[in-house]
Amino acid sequence: MRILSGIQPSGVGHLGNYLGAIRQWVSAQDADAYYAVVDLHSLTLDIPPDRLRVQTLDTLAILVAAGLDPEQCTLFIQSHVPYHAQLNWLLECVASYGELTRMTQFKEKSGRQEGYRVGLLTYPVLMAADILLYRAEQVPVGDDQRQHLELARNIAERFNNRYGEVFTVPEAVAPPFAARVMDLQDPSRKMSKSLNSPLGTIYVLDEPDEIVRKVKKAVTDTDGEVRYDRDDKPGLSNLLEILASLSDEAPESVAARYQRYGDLKSDVAEAVVGALEPLRLRFLDIREDETLLRQVATRGADKAVATAEPLYRAAAEAMGL
Ligand code: TYM
Repeated sequence: MRILSGIQPSGVGHLGNYLGAIRQWVSAQDADAYYAVVDLHSLTLDIPPDRLRVQTLDTLAILVAAGLDPEQCTLFIQSHVPYHAQLNWLLECVASYGELTRMTQFKEKSGRQEGYRVGLLTYPVLMAADILLYRAEQVPVGDDQRQHLELARNIAERFNNRYGEVFTVPEAVAPPFAARVMDLQDPSRKMSKSLNSPLGTIYVLDEPDEIVRKVKKAVTDTDGEVRYDRDDKPGLSNLLEILASLSDEAPESVAARYQRYGDLKSDVAEAVVGALEPLRLRFLDIREDETLLRQVATRGADKAVATAEPLYRAAAEAMGL
């Protein structure tokens, strides 16, 4: 089964990235799995070049520390493979302006910025290019990327109908729980790299005492009943989902074990520390060896180019180039 997914290096990854995406990537990794640090995507934000360079290597190191093995899967940096940007252009001439302006993420992010970049609008087309270049059948992502996956499917189908069968139509795969981890301080919005919510966001490189502090301060409610109900009890349900995801059980059965919010919070904190602390320690080791990280990236790019190039050529030829 061909798999592709990606993560932006726009900041240190957080618990949502880990539970919604990275953990799935690790369990699905094999010779047919491609995972990218999508640095081109981060240019949609105003990010200083030096910071982008550092964060791209940080993100690569986080993925290795989380358990992605460059011997088993293909781990690469998007901008090292020129066909992403090239196919992006071809697909921009297949996608319509209307469908891009309808994207929820675009509406939210463009509303927060004045004079936003055109890339913010066209970014889902680049994401479609990432996926279609590798003929990915499955794309493991969190819930917030589902709409972008729908767009990638539509673009693939439209292209195939108009120009001949070149692309595989991909499918989104989200985990059963924690596909949408919410901000601990405001459980009505998702945990996010781009929102500034230091206490509401658990970063994968947070130290244990920071994690404990953030979980203890997580916003819940006052009725005191431990019950899984995302609508009426969003904060508590978020904690239940986090623990459910880390212990591979249903949030309802997690809820049944607790009488008090405090006990639940202690166990959530312990489970998150148990998952992230080994990652953080491995990261500190791996990040020191930049030569090794660069070797991983070079090798990944070579493998990715070998897969992407024939697909790009087929698409370009089909369109008459
Ligand atoms: P990004 O970098 O925002 O997030 C990386 C992955 O983490 C998931 N995620 C979450 N899951 C659960 N709860 C959350 N609060 C949460 N926040 C983020 C995302 O769904 C994603 O799977 N456009 C993509 C990157 C991308 C991509 C691709 C993904 C570019 N090209 C091709 C798949 C295939 C993005 O910005 O993800």
